[in-house]
Amino acid sequence: MAIADSFLQELRERLDIESVVSPYVTLKRRGRLMVGLCPFHNEKTPSFTLYPETESFFCFGCNTGGEIITFIRLIENLDFVEAVKLLAQQAGMQMPEDGYDDSLSKKRQRMLSANREAAKFFHSNLNAPLGQEALEYLENRGISKPLIKRFGLGFAPDSWDALLDHMRGRGYSASELHEANLVRKSSKSGSDHYYDSFKNRIMIPIIDLRGNVVAFGGRILGQGIPKYVNTSDTLIYKKSNVVFALNLAKNKNDGKLILTEGYMDVIALHRGGFENSVACLGTALTNEQARLLARYAKEIILAYDSDEAGQRATQKALEVLGKTGLKIRVLKLSGGKDPDEIINKYGPGRIQALLDGADNETEYRFSRARVKYDLNTPDGRLGYLNEAVKVLADLNSPVELDIYASELSKELSVAKEAILAQVKSQSGRQKYERKKQREKELYKSAKKGLTSAGRGRARLPANCEAKEIKAEEIIISILLHNPDFYRKFKDRLGAELFSDEFHKRIYSLIAERIEADKNIDLTSLSQELSNQEMTDLSSLFVKGQDLSNTLAQYGDCVSVLEKAKRDSTIIEPGKLSNEEFLKLFEKPNNE
Ligand code: GTP
Ligand code: MN
Repeated sequence: MAIADSFLQELRERLDIESVVSPYVTLKRRGRLMVGLCPFHNEKTPSFTLYPETESFFCFGCNTGGEIITFIRLIENLDFVEAVKLLAQQAGMQMPEDGYDDSLSKKRQRMLSANREAAKFFHSNLNAPLGQEALEYLENRGISKPLIKRFGLGFAPDSWDALLDHMRGRGYSASELHEANLVRKSSKSGSDHYYDSFKNRIMIPIIDLRGNVVAFGGRILGQGIPKYVNTSDTLIYKKSNVVFALNLAKNKNDGKLILTEGYMDVIALHRGGFENSVACLGTALTNEQARLLARYAKEIILAYDSDEAGQRATQKALEVLGKTGLKIRVLKLSGGKDPDEIINKYGPGRIQALLDGADNETEYRFSRARVKYDLNTPDGRLGYLNEAVKVLADLNSPVELDIYASELSKELSVAKEAILAQVKSQSGRQKYERKKQREKELYKSAKKGLTSAGRGRARLPANCEAKEIKAEEIIISILLHNPDFYRKFKDRLGAELFSDEFHKRIYSLIAERIEADKNIDLTSLSQELSNQEMTDLSSLFVKGQDLSNTLAQYGDCVSVLEKAKRDSTIIEPGKLSNEEFLKLFEKPNNE
């Protein structure tokens, strides 16, 4: 890889961050800083902050940050070398002839253009005689020409090599198409044989936020198995990082997005005028997708299928969305299994009515719990109370807690104080369990490898209670501003003392560079880090600007890690037995 450090340094010196950012963001000076509306998420008051002195930026709304190269990577959706190229042009610098590797970037560009060409081919088929049946299928589902155009829908003919032939004619090799997942390979007869991945299917292009076709979903005409064939992950597509139709919905929502399960639901909802609809495409909602949604919305309305699987997926999505701080409501679908069916049966007015009556998250979880139990029996009431307390323990607002505890108290004839006491102990337990869970996730994602842009790293810095993690953060924060502290403590502080895998990796990287007499400014580090990692690192860097940055503080944190290493046993909080819980019902009801 590697573009020479000296080249990056010069780039950094020639370009100031203000001039790089200002074409994209209207900046206002505020003391030594500049602020503006963040280009990476939807906001009305500026939380995007520029630090001219350290040539860095950070948004306190969506936690995105970095330096000039990261900014360009994110806003132009480029990889590292492409971003450097663009900036070098601005700075009037000649890119070094070789010594860097842009083959990956070229491959990506090539794959994107192959996908675009394939999408055009599929789309044009709908106007040809061979696409007649497909066109009729779509029209029967209420999908007319303008909608077909808006979503770029198409048709893959009933042939093993229609796409292959077309693309070869445009200069794409079979192996290129194979890497893009557009064709498949069989090596049965000794030699490689390629054939189209999509055959006799309605083609739905999946388009990223920049308007690139990154993948396809192919639906069978009518009944059959598999119903959908989808592009699996490629160099330009990671299923878990993409939200279908967000490219359309991102500008058509007033802070609210409707999240569904399927392509067809989104298309039907758009047809019904709900252009703020998106889908996560049959997978469990991921942290990455949730983070993406949070960039463009303040509220998510879940409109998953009404069947059992859809309700399970709803529960899962609530968990994931819960981490984002987004407001969540759940649509109670009735009269059909999914939004598509409901719109086709009753028209869009029905959806509007459902939207008006959508449960908030707490009500939804209550009613889900309620149907599981027979409230006429003590056991049933206990089971319900048990679950309801868990729901209440997740509430952050005391007012909300009070309201729902009162309701529950009336519903079950249990003293409100008893419920609140139970909620309190449960909430401590849940916090503890979540912390453990977060640590487990961190460990897992770190193990999976930190290289991809979507690391799915739980965002620890804001709200982790662990003292060691805080100490690790401070160490990195201070170190970024005071590289010379490293040598003073390196004998006591080895990378193995870090428990957070990301911190460990950053510390090792810093150590390695200092030992080699290299710079550790953000620009130099950015070459080795993904966008997400850069953002996490910038968050630490920005924190470091507000710390006292003394050697003593640094030393204290090192001691914390040393101590943590010595006593690494944790006491589990006790669990309340069912009998203890049952006692609640014996208390007098004074409501
Ligand atoms: P229609 O049945 O045509 O209305 O499609 P739908 O979008 O409502 O699909 P459904 O609710 O059955 O599934 C939701 C999503 O899961 C789909 O949009 C697909 O992304 C995905 N999916 C469904 N069936 C399959 C399948 O057989 N294979 C794969 N890989 N994905 C599927
Ligand atoms: Mn459907």
